[in-house]
This record gives sequence, structure tokens and C-alpha cells, in this order.
Amino acid sequence: MITAQIQTAAYLFAGILFILSLGGLSSQESAKRGVFYGIVGMAIAILSTVLGGDVHGHIYIIAAIAIASVIGILVARKVEMTSMPQLVAILHSFVGLAAVLVGFGSYLDPHTQELVGTAHTIHLVEIFIGVFIGAITFTGSIIAWGKLQGKIMSKPLVYPGRHAVNIILVLISIVLGVLFTQAHGVDGMLYLYIMTAIAAFIGVMLVMAIGGADMPVVVSMLNSYSGWAAAAAGFMLGNDLLIITGALVGSSGAILSIIMCEAMNRSFLSVIFGGFGATPISSGGDQEIEGEVTSTNHAEVAELLKEAKHVLIVPGYGMAVAKAQYPIHDLVDILQKDGKKVTFGIHPVAGRLPGHMNVLLAEANVSYDIVLEMEEANDEMDETNVVLVIGANDIVNPGALTDTSSPIYGMPVIKVWEADKVIVMKRSMATGYAGVQNPLFFKDNTDMLYGDAKDSVDKILAELR
Ligand code: TAP
Repeated sequence: MITAQIQTAAYLFAGILFILSLGGLSSQESAKRGVFYGIVGMAIAILSTVLGGDVHGHIYIIAAIAIASVIGILVARKVEMTSMPQLVAILHSFVGLAAVLVGFGSYLDPHTQELVGTAHTIHLVEIFIGVFIGAITFTGSIIAWGKLQGKIMSKPLVYPGRHAVNIILVLISIVLGVLFTQAHGVDGMLYLYIMTAIAAFIGVMLVMAIGGADMPVVVSMLNSYSGWAAAAAGFMLGNDLLIITGALVGSSGAILSIIMCEAMNRSFLSVIFGGFGATPISSGGDQEIEGEVTSTNHAEVAELLKEAKHVLIVPGYGMAVAKAQYPIHDLVDILQKDGKKVTFGIHPVAGRLPGHMNVLLAEANVSYDIVLEMEEANDEMDETNVVLVIGANDIVNPGALTDTSSPIYGMPVIKVWEADKVIVMKRSMATGYAGVQNPLFFKDNTDMLYGDAKDSVDKILAELR
């Protein structure tokens, strides 16, 4: 057992490690260090909490941690990179559920009843708000998981007057909150249950109202909610570290959501309030597309690459599906050895989760120095000879800049068509995530190279060797 002073010092140390962890995760070079700080911080946090003076029943805690760790390791090892967003979404739901259960437990805890006056009221308010945020996070995250997994339709479910309904439900919750704080003993449990059901319903409706194209923002927003739910649980339990950690997750999730909204040209408020004021998503791309689609073969692409001085590679979701990052690494090696400048252009929402492409390229040991952000890649476009678009679609769609009827109108894109030549590697003319046709494929300087991305890169490699 450790003393309260040692526990406080350990919490402070863990809190600093969490801040260093977030700082480390903000750049690829330091990301591994950031993850390491996070792991050490969390280990210290768990140990110092479990070994604290008020904790009993260690055997159950150890058993629960052991079982949960095995499940966590098995799931994390098995999950495909393409299913990561679903995993993240379902993990957020656990945080929400934990906050709800902590709230119920805290209310029924005899220590709560011993509190008097303002301290008692403040604690009840903490419980009520914590359960409210937790229940929204719980059901919202389950719906997000269902949408990302394709179990629930990704079309936004909107009905007239839904904002009024949500506001009325929030007002009813406030009234229930007042009744809850005035109830004697544990008589307020019924109000807590009713509010939980209402908050759970709000969570479902908020995420159901969000269309497929906004799902990336929703996942990071639920990440933020889960942080606030954890902070609320920290208040209920009087645990400072949980408050700090929750606030860090809550605010970093909110900042990430804002960055992603900017990258996708979405209004942050409209996404948080479940499509509030969002323009209805059309099936998109009403603009006439001019030009003809031309295709090429592996030998021709290899010839093009041999002649090029500067090659830009723009990867997208298809690279993840095909697991093409490994042969791409070999391709980069060969081209660099031949004296060519090779860079990658990464769109902030390429793939299906923030940093998706960066993670895959790091996995294949692609050097960070040649990985450019969208703006940097765009700045170099006029001096780029060949662009290889590998399994990307929406993020290189010129319609996003010109077609006001397109659901992705206004989203900044990588302007690959401004290079001398563009090769698009994908299996067919199928649309991408947003479901809109891509005028890039019809441009004079674009050729399609049909087939699985990994297979295509392998064949180009064979030609180059
Ligand atoms: P998408 O627009 O979804 O396009 C991916 C393309 O890859 C598809 O058109 C598909 O065409 C092709 N493809 C699939 N499997 C392939 C394979 N094995 N080999 C070769 N090509 C393959 O992807 P993107 O350009 O990366 O854009 C991302 C989109 O997802 C954006 O709309 C974004 O808003 C959305 N989104 C992003 C996130 C985050 S946070 N990054 C999360 C959720 C949604 P074929 O079927 O013809 O091969």
C-alpha cells in the first residue's frame, strides 16, 4: 500500500508523462517516444490507484485487468488496419459506459450519503452530468461503430423538428437533474435512470443524423466526448489524475475534430450538433464531365518513371486495402537510386482514420523526410513530372474545387492534375467513400492503370528491375 503523498506524486508524474506523450504524438519522428511515455504514464496511473489506501479486493481487480488485457491484446493483434476506426469507436463506447456505471456506483456509495450541504449537492451534480455525457458517448459510439462497420445505413437519419426534440429532451434532463439533487437518500435513482435513457436516445439520434462523409470527424468528436466522460468520472471519484487525463483527451479530441473539419471544409458546430444547418448531401457530382478515360499498362508506366525527374506518390484508402505500402517502398528505393526525386503527398483525410497513410508508410519504413503534407505537395506540383495516385479517389477529385453540387465541394484536395502526367491505380471506375464520380480520370494528362494496387506496383517493379 502507498501513502496519499506518494500517490499524489505518482499522479503528478503520470500527468506529466501524458502531456509529453501527446506532445510526442504530434510528429512522426517522436511518435514512438510519445507512445512509450503514454504506456509508462498509464502503468504508473493504474498501479498508484490500485495500491492506494482506499482500495480493497485487489484479487478481483488483478483478475479483471488480466482478463481485459488478454481480450485487448487478441483484438488489437487481429484487427485489420482498415477496421481501426470501428475499433476506436467501440473503445470510446466503453469509456462512456464506464462513466455511467461509475455514476450509478458513486450515487449508491454510502460515502455519498454522508456528505452534507453544498458538498453533497456538488457531488450529485457531478454524478448527473457524468452519467449524461457517458450515456451519450456510449450509445453514440455504438452507432458510429455500426455505421463504420456497415451494419447501420450511413445515410444521415434526419426528421423535421429533430433539433427541437433534442432541445426539449435536454430541458427535461435539466428538470430531472434538479429533482435528483433534491431527492433524499438514494431516492433520486429513478430520475437518474430516466435521464440515462434520454441521454442514450440523444446519443443515438446525434450520430444517426450524421452522414457517412462526416464520420471521420464524428469518431474524433466521440473521442473528445469520451475524454470529458472520463473527466466527469474523475470528479465523481475525487481522482485528480482521471480529471487531468480526461481533460487532455477531451481537449485534444476537440482540437483534432476542428482540424479535420477544416480539412474537409465542414462546419464544426454542424457536425457536433448532428448535422445542425448542414447542407443536405446530394448524391453528388451533377456537373457534366468532359473528356475520355484512357488506360495504360505496367510497361508504359515503368518507361514514364524511367524518364521522370520528380515523382509524387499520392496514396489513399486503396493502398491500405491492397497492402501496397511494402512494394511501394521498394519502388521508391529503385527510383531514388536512379537519382530521381520521389515524394509522397498526404491528404489529412486520406484513408479511413487520421494519420492512416502515415502509419502505413512508417510501417513500410518509408523515410519521413520525403512525406509531404497536402499544401507542400501542391506547392511542388508544377515541377512534378509523374504522379502515381495509388488507391486514392476523393482526395484528388478536382470536382471538390469546382462542382458546387458535389458532397465534397469545398474540401481542399491534392491538385495532381497540375503535374505533367497522372497515373491512377485502382481496380475499376468505381467511386470512393463520398460516392462521387471523379473528373480527374477523364483529364487528358491522366491514364488509368486498372488492377489491385499491390499487384500493379509489383508488376511495375518487375519492369524496372
Ligand atoms: P476513397 O475516396 O475512398 O477511394 C479509395 C479508392 O481506392 C476507391 O475508389 C477504390 O476504387 C480504390 N481501391 C480499393 N481497393 C483497392 C485495391 N485493392 N487496389 C487499388 N485500388 C483500390 O479514398 P481516399 O481517396 O483515401 O479518400 C478518403 C475518403 O474517406 C474521403 O472521402 C474521406 O472523407 C473519407 N474518410 C476519411 C476518414 C479519415 S479520418 N481519413 C475516415 C472515414 C472516411 P476501386 O474500387 O475502383 O478499386
